[in-house]
Amino acid sequence: MATQMFEGRGHAAVYQKYRFAPGKELQHTILSYLREKKAIPAELAVDVGCGSGQGTHFLGEHFKKVVGTDISEAQIQEAKATPCMPNISYLVCPAEELPFQDGSVDVLTSFTAAHWFQLERFAREAQRVLRPGGCVAISTYTLDMSLRHGDCSQQLTRVFRECWDEILKYSNDKVKFVLDDYKAIFESLPFPDKKRITDIYDPIPMTVEGVVGYMESTSSYQTFKKNDPAAATSLLQETEKRMLETMGVSSRETPVEFLVRHVCVLGCKGC
Ligand SMILES: C[S@@+](CC[C@H](N)C(=O)[O-])C[C@H]1O[C@@H](n2cnc3c(N)ncnc32)[C@H](O)[C@@H]1O
Repeated sequence: MATQMFEGRGHAAVYQKYRFAPGKELQHTILSYLREKKAIPAELAVDVGCGSGQGTHFLGEHFKKVVGTDISEAQIQEAKATPCMPNISYLVCPAEELPFQDGSVDVLTSFTAAHWFQLERFAREAQRVLRPGGCVAISTYTLDMSLRHGDCSQQLTRVFRECWDEILKYSNDKVKFVLDDYKAIFESLPFPDKKRITDIYDPIPMTVEGVVGYMESTSSYQTFKKNDPAAATSLLQETEKRMLETMGVSSRETPVEFLVRHVCVLGCKGC
């Protein structure tokens, strides 16, 4: 059974508004590998678990055709409603049953989604749909996150982490794959040529509202909200208030840098 955590229309809308695209360092890591393996430029990239298209968009510049796929109808509706390059399209389907012919895909990507998949079945699908010499790039941001703003970065990060710790009490069991830096996902891939990079750091420009919105967009927060709506709402309100006080500002539009660590699993199917 697939784990479906991103089905609600409200959740998908919050997700589209607040989830960020892969930062420059992650993009650079992936594109360098694909160039090294001569996997770009190419015809077709498929972004699996694409959400509302956060990672799908930058692929548009490197492939003739990009297809974002997701099991959630609501996420795909949000993706379709977001402006993008004309060579990008979207479809609803599970990662474990991709509607592509054998050997027809040049590159398969997945951003912050593979831990939700049934790993063995997804690995088999990757092996099936990729052409010989085709590549995978499977990444996630980890829970190693910090905030930077002037000289209050440490205090701000502490406020963020305290809130984050409360939210993480409602985490799905699948988060263990993220905590393990995608080791199990790396091991599930059947390719002999593969590597796992665990120290990719990207500073993401955000605002106070964006950081609070990011926390709201997580599946753990959505579970918390279903269990105890009043406590969940008040946690985010209180956190925003504390962040503003720590920074000595009043506007939730105040910029703040969100430093995230990514893990990326890269692999190439033998010829
Ligand atoms: C955390 S979101 C990541 C979305 C986007 N890739 C990003 O970078 O923000 C995880 C996505 O994986 C999708 N998903 C979960 N299980 C799936 C499955 N078995 N097959 C396809 N998509 C799945 C969810 O619907 C959700 O949109």
